[in-house]
Amino acid sequence: MTQTGVLPLIDLVADAVSRTVSVVRPAAAGADPVVRRSAHADFQSNVALSLAKRLKVKPVELATEFAENLESVGAPVVSVKLSGPGFLNIGVSDRAVWQQVAARLADDRLGVAASEGGCRTVVDYSAPNIAKEMHVGHLRTTIIGDSLARVLEFLGAEVVRQNHLGDWGTQFGMLIQYLDEHPDARWRHEDLGERDGSSVSALDALYKAARKEFDADSAFADRSRARVVALQAGDPATLARWREIVSESEQAFADIYRRLGVLLTAEDSVGESFYNSMLVDTVDELVGKGIAVESDGALVVFSEEVNGPDGRPVPLMVRKRDGGYGYDTTDLATIRYRISELGAQRLLYVTDSRQALHFQLIFETARRAGWLTEKVDAEHIAYGTVLGPDGRPFKTRAGGTVRLMDLLDDAFTKAREVVADKDPDLAPAELDKIAEQAGIGAVKYADLSTSRVKDYTFDLDRMIAFNGNTSVYLQYAHTRIRSILRKAGESTPIVDVDVVLEPAERALALELDAYSSTVREVAETLEPHRLCGYLYELARDFTTFYDNCPVLSAAEPLRGNRLALCRLTAATLSHGLGLLGIAAPERM
Ligand code: ARG
Repeated sequence: MTQTGVLPLIDLVADAVSRTVSVVRPAAAGADPVVRRSAHADFQSNVALSLAKRLKVKPVELATEFAENLESVGAPVVSVKLSGPGFLNIGVSDRAVWQQVAARLADDRLGVAASEGGCRTVVDYSAPNIAKEMHVGHLRTTIIGDSLARVLEFLGAEVVRQNHLGDWGTQFGMLIQYLDEHPDARWRHEDLGERDGSSVSALDALYKAARKEFDADSAFADRSRARVVALQAGDPATLARWREIVSESEQAFADIYRRLGVLLTAEDSVGESFYNSMLVDTVDELVGKGIAVESDGALVVFSEEVNGPDGRPVPLMVRKRDGGYGYDTTDLATIRYRISELGAQRLLYVTDSRQALHFQLIFETARRAGWLTEKVDAEHIAYGTVLGPDGRPFKTRAGGTVRLMDLLDDAFTKAREVVADKDPDLAPAELDKIAEQAGIGAVKYADLSTSRVKDYTFDLDRMIAFNGNTSVYLQYAHTRIRSILRKAGESTPIVDVDVVLEPAERALALELDAYSSTVREVAETLEPHRLCGYLYELARDFTTFYDNCPVLSAAEPLRGNRLALCRLTAATLSHGLGLLGIAAPERM
C-alpha cells in the first residue's frame, strides 16, 4: 500500500484553526482546535469555548477574534460564522471538496495516514481452552480482538497476535488417563464421521466423562493425579498424548477461525504451557524484589491499589500452598516475556469484563517489578456479555453453553432464507456463498456495533435484516453501488473540480472525508462500534445522494463527478467492512 499523501479536509480545517489560535492568542498555541463535522455547517470548532476560561475572555469575544482571522487564511476555508455561545461554523469551498474526492480516489489508503508509526503492539485475543468446545463466550474476544488487530495494523502498528490458549493444567492429567483407559474412544478427526462433530467436541464429552469417573472412583482419581505429575515432569508418553490433544483441538479452532474469517493462525498460538519454564524465574524475581510475600504457606502479591470487601489488600496468587502455579502466575510470566522478549510497546488483552480485577493486579505487579514502565502501555479491553432472548447470559434451550459452530450454522441458515427471499434468482451455490458471508458478517457486526462494554442480546432476526444498522444493510448498499459502477464501465472517472456541489453530494463527500478521523478514533478508543456507526451513516448518506442525484443519466462533467462519489463510497464501505473482518460481496 502506498503511503497516503492526501490530507483530509477535516485535518486541513483543524490545521487552519490551530494557526489562527497561535496568531491571535499565542499563549494558547498548540491547543486542541476541537473541530468536528456539524449539522449546521461543513465543520464546527468549539475552540473558543474550550479556551475561554483559561484565557479569561468571554467565549463570544474570543470566537469573534478567531473568526476574523480565520476568514482571512483562505483555502479550504471560505466562510466562518459565529453561532450560539461561541461556536465557529466553518464552510469549505466546493472546489476543495472535489479536490479531496479526486485525491482520495487515487489513494490506496483512502486518505488514511499510517499514524501508529510501527508501535509494537501485542494483541491477546480469542484464547480458548484446549479439549473444550469454543462457545459463545469466545465470540466477542475473537471478533473484537481481530478487528482491533486489523485497524492497528492498517494504521502502521507492528501487531503481534497472541492466542493465549488454555493448554495446561491438572485437568489434562485426568483426560489423558481416561483416554489411555478407553482406547476405543473416538476423538481424533480421522476417526470421526461427518455427524460426530469436531474432535474438540468429542474431547469435551470425554473430559466430562473423565470428570465423572474422577469423582466416583478414588482409584481413578489417584491414577489421574499421578498422571498430572507425569505430565509436569515431562514423561514422554504423557507429553506425546498431550501434544496430540492440543493439536486436535487447534485444528478444530482453526476451522472456526477460517469460518469466522479471523486472522489467527497456528503461529499465533502461544499457550499457557509456553511459559512453564519461566514460572520459577518470574516468581524468584518477585520474591527477590520483596513484592511477593508468604501468606499461609502460599506466595502472594498484596495489592497496594485495591482492597477487598473485607477492607484488606486483594492478593494475587503467585504460588499455591501445594507448590502449584496457576492462571495468575502464568500471566505474570507472560507480561514479563512480552515486554522483555517480544519488545512490546503496547499490550492489549481482550477478555470479558469479569477479568478486570485480574488484569489490574497483573499490571500493578508488573509495574512494581519494573517490567511495565511508562514506555509501555498495557490495557484490558473489556467487553460485556452476550445475552439470550430472556435477557440472561445466552444458553441453549436445555440450559447448556451455546457452541460457536452451532451458532454460526444458525446464522447461515437464517441468512440463506433472507437472501433467497430478496433475490430468488440466485443459483444454489452462489446463494450458499452469499448466505455464509451475510450470516457470518451479521454475527460479527452485531457484536462490533454495540458499544464494547455493554451487554447485547443475540437476536438473529434483528441481526440478519436488510434494514437498520446491520452488516446485511451495508453489504447490500455496497452491492448496489458496485452494480451502478459495472453499468457505467469500470474506467476511473474524471473529477471536474469546478462543478457546483448539490447538498446531497456535499453531505456524502464530507462523510467520506471523515473516514480517516473515524479509523484513528477507533485506534485511540479501541472501540470498533465507532467504525460501524460511521459506515451506517455513510450508507445512508449515499442513499440520500442516489435518490436526489441521478448518476448514469447525468451529463458530463456531472456524471464523472458522481461516479467518483459512487466509487469512493463503494471502496470505503468495502475497506471499512474489511477492517471489521466482514466480507463485501459483489452481489446479493
Ligand atoms: N483462556 C482464558 C479464558 O478462557 C483467557 C485468556 C486470556 N489471556 C490472558 N493472557 N489471560 O478465560
